[in-house]
Amino acid sequence: MGFFETLAEAVRQIQAQAESTLKQPNPLGLLTQASATASQAVTTQGRAAALKAARALVNALEAPEEKIVRISWGEPMLFLATRLGIDLKLFAKLQEATSPDCTCDELAKETGCDEVLLSRLLKHLATGAIVKETAVDRYAATPTSNLLATPEGAGPVVNCFSSLGKVESNVVEYFQKRDWKNPTDKDDSPFKYGAKTDLHYFQWVFQPDNQEEAGAFLNHMKLLSSGPRWYDTVPVEEIFGTSCGPSDVLLVDVGGNAGHDITKFHQANPNLQGKLILEDLPQTIESIDAKAIAPVEPLAHDFFTEQPVKGAKAYYLKMILHDWPDSACHDILSNLKPALKAGYSKILINETVIPDKGAEWYATGLDLLMMVTHSAHERREREWKALVKGAGLKVVKIWDCGAAPEKLIEVELA
Ligand SMILES: C[S@@+](CC[C@H](N)C(=O)[O-])C[C@H]1O[C@@H](n2cnc3c(N)ncnc32)[C@H](O)[C@@H]1O
Repeated sequence: MGFFETLAEAVRQIQAQAESTLKQPNPLGLLTQASATASQAVTTQGRAAALKAARALVNALEAPEEKIVRISWGEPMLFLATRLGIDLKLFAKLQEATSPDCTCDELAKETGCDEVLLSRLLKHLATGAIVKETAVDRYAATPTSNLLATPEGAGPVVNCFSSLGKVESNVVEYFQKRDWKNPTDKDDSPFKYGAKTDLHYFQWVFQPDNQEEAGAFLNHMKLLSSGPRWYDTVPVEEIFGTSCGPSDVLLVDVGGNAGHDITKFHQANPNLQGKLILEDLPQTIESIDAKAIAPVEPLAHDFFTEQPVKGAKAYYLKMILHDWPDSACHDILSNLKPALKAGYSKILINETVIPDKGAEWYATGLDLLMMVTHSAHERREREWKALVKGAGLKVVKIWDCGAAPEKLIEVELA
């Protein structure tokens, strides 16, 4: 049974169960809708719609007290057990197993963890479908645990467990002391307050003795770029217009991290002519194997200084501006602006655009993560337009990017 069939079957089973037990008023309309959407997903690949319907179904069925305790300790303990599982290499051991499942005893020996402790972690991980409980004290890998066994899969967990751990114990005090003002000062973020550091998050994460943290951040970024991409749906030729010659610069990935995005762009568009430049902080650029990303050319550049690559066809900023409050974004765009050739160059901003109503958890969760980490935020359409206009630029078009959570904001000189 394929993924979509499994999903549809799961929702059908819940519907049958709910129909037989629920009294008036019951959410049968919702159940039917969820089931229909899941069935449709089988044929239309509307996985996101089916997932949304299934979540709405859970919200309708879950009692308020159940929801409160689930978010208070059910989910946080899943996060904790996952983090500990990564450190124990539990998910790798499950993946490497030659038998279809493993006993808790075997896993305890393989990981070096106390069997009772491991059995408690595994039980909770099974409730979140991170691992599969196949029989009493027997567990098997799942697609999620297999992904967690990779550096990219582990990245968001390791990265956020550490940074949010520093934020959470002091965040109430942080806001109380600031009279509940929205944080907009990059030098006074909840992260800096919680971590008791004078360093901005990026300075903190890239400290020489902080390699594990930096690696986890890098892998977090890689995982976020592993899903659907803007160039899967947006017509690239229309964006780039006139073609570039081989010595022209086609695309500069500003703050492109380890180059995972621009290299995939090249693989997806191998026939586009023009140079591809990857820019990031020196610490990141120095850690890159330049041969591995060729023909992409790495270049250390601080985006708070003037852009050194002039007259490129496009300057690409993926998940850059959401790290910074408006005043810093204004500085980043102003340092980019002198490099733009009028009527030719574009800035391509690849970020979430929070809908005025009905936003999804991905964008709103990221918004609060940016708030506590950087005193920054995800933006609504009107906020993007105001930010771009404030830097003497204009939004030409906001492209919907299909299943990708981010949109592509096409910007030119005003
Ligand atoms: C949220 S990450 C996004 C990375 C990449 N664009 C992506 O989507 O995976 C932000 C990136 O900005 C880089 N960065 C932070 N401050 C910078 C600066 N002053 N100049 C250049 N890059 C910077 C970080 O090293 C990091 O790679």
